[in-house]
Amino acid sequence: FVSDIIHYESVGSTMPIAHREAQNGASGGTVIVAEEQTEGRGRLARPWSSTAGKGIWMSVILKPDIPPHRAPQFTLIAAVSICRAIRETAGVEARIKWPNDLLIGGRKVTGILTELQADPDRVQAIIIGIGINVNQETEDFPEELADIATSVRIQSGHRIDRAALAAAVLRNIGFYSKIYLEEGFAPIKMLWEENSDTIGRKVNAVMMRETVTGTAIGITEEGVLEIRTEDGAIRGIYSADIEPAE
Ligand code: BTN
Repeated sequence: FVSDIIHYESVGSTMPIAHREAQNGASGGTVIVAEEQTEGRGRLARPWSSTAGKGIWMSVILKPDIPPHRAPQFTLIAAVSICRAIRETAGVEARIKWPNDLLIGGRKVTGILTELQADPDRVQAIIIGIGINVNQETEDFPEELADIATSVRIQSGHRIDRAALAAAVLRNIGFYSKIYLEEGFAPIKMLWEENSDTIGRKVNAVMMRETVTGTAIGITEEGVLEIRTEDGAIRGIYSADIEPAE
């Protein structure tokens, strides 16, 4: 599955580098990985702390032959793949918080940022940015993250071989992408819901203009979160921050 690994000591962010490589003809399976990012970024342009040598900071270029509306499904493939890789490598169970955070012990261990290059009817490239907090100790996190972030090391109690974990992530992305392209979205959706920390919970979906409260009941093919509100209506949530209700 991996066709090429381009390794950097220090970059601003692996995302623009991956975009450029994808545009310049890099094949699907090309991976941009950095020891350190000085301007790592997350969803909604939030900063992403990427301490040197402590985590896995990488962008994976995929070039599947699919229409653009199916691209978000690759974020879910990545989430399921990273869960399994963490389980295999470190023996700890991560849970997926919709849309695409992985939590261990209720704290964030991984963020996924998916970006797209596409024509109206065809995907040119999907760039999956993956940040995994691997070997940080509590004091390695900036103060504002102390209560919300964690690392695989903190949660498993032992130091993790980053190369082995990164290899497991890439192997699983290859494995589940193949299942997805051959069998469709149903097996991925099932695994995602099984590993989800959100489904079955009463949640507040906090959006810019309103907050929707109800029970998270599942995700759609597009990765939209479905919430059953108190009056029995089902609301599709496209983008929100999810927090536990009550
Ligand atoms: C999020 O949780 O909001 C997504 C975080 C994504 C972080 C990764 S680290 C590698 C890649 N490069 C970046 O600048 N961001 C992604």
